[in-house]
Amino acid sequence: MSAEAEPLEAMPAYVTELFGDRTALAQRYAGHLATTGVEWGLIGPREVPRIWTRHILNCAVLAELLEAGDEVGDIGSGAGLPGLALALARPDVSFVLVEIMERRVEWLQMVVDDLGVENVRIVRARVEELVDEEMFTVVTARAVKSLSTLIEWTVPVLAPEGRILAIKGERAPEEAEKAAKLIRKRRLEGPVFHRLGSEHLDVPTTVVELRRR
Ligand SMILES: C[S@@+](CC[C@H](N)C(=O)[O-])C[C@H]1O[C@@H](n2cnc3c(N)ncnc32)[C@H](O)[C@@H]1O
Repeated sequence: MSAEAEPLEAMPAYVTELFGDRTALAQRYAGHLATTGVEWGLIGPREVPRIWTRHILNCAVLAELLEAGDEVGDIGSGAGLPGLALALARPDVSFVLVEIMERRVEWLQMVVDDLGVENVRIVRARVEELVDEEMFTVVTARAVKSLSTLIEWTVPVLAPEGRILAIKGERAPEEAEKAAKLIRKRRLEGPVFHRLGSEHLDVPTTVVELRRR
């Protein structure tokens, strides 16, 4: 079966709850993921029938953890997950999508331009290279390295009191346990585990939160 033949998942009702008057933009983003996202190799064709639940909603549920005025750095954003999904859900928060791969950055810029969202900036860089250039009140990441690596990479760009919100699977407590020494060494509070979207998603999103003291 060709990539184009995969049917896009029907939009769940929960989308309007999370995106409000930006629901049409979220639909347009889903359309990009299912077409050019697949063609450009940012997302596998098998993900198209679960674009909403496993990707956009899995990420957008973090919206409730953000505060108005936050400056969020989404590390290893790939196809904008979770950063762009969150930017659509939270127009009162600023986002920087940090991604190293040129083609992914090009795709992200094309999609952000098309959607016309103004609370998003895209930076092509390794996050480790952004020390002294960027400072975030929140760092988000999904499917980017281990929690330990994420801590090493992102504490230098985290504001005092800033938070790391890492989307992790069921093994989140294990990962946090492995990182326990580093969490203390880098003077982080936590971990706090969040289970989000459990009323609406078959697989709720597990988030590990760490706060810089
Ligand atoms: C497995 S993908 C996950 C993409 C997206 N977060 C998601 O959940 O679909 C990991 C992404 O991190 C990017 N990446 C890896 N190391 C990075 C670094 N040091 N700085 C910025 N981005 C990085 C890769 O290019 C890739 O797009």
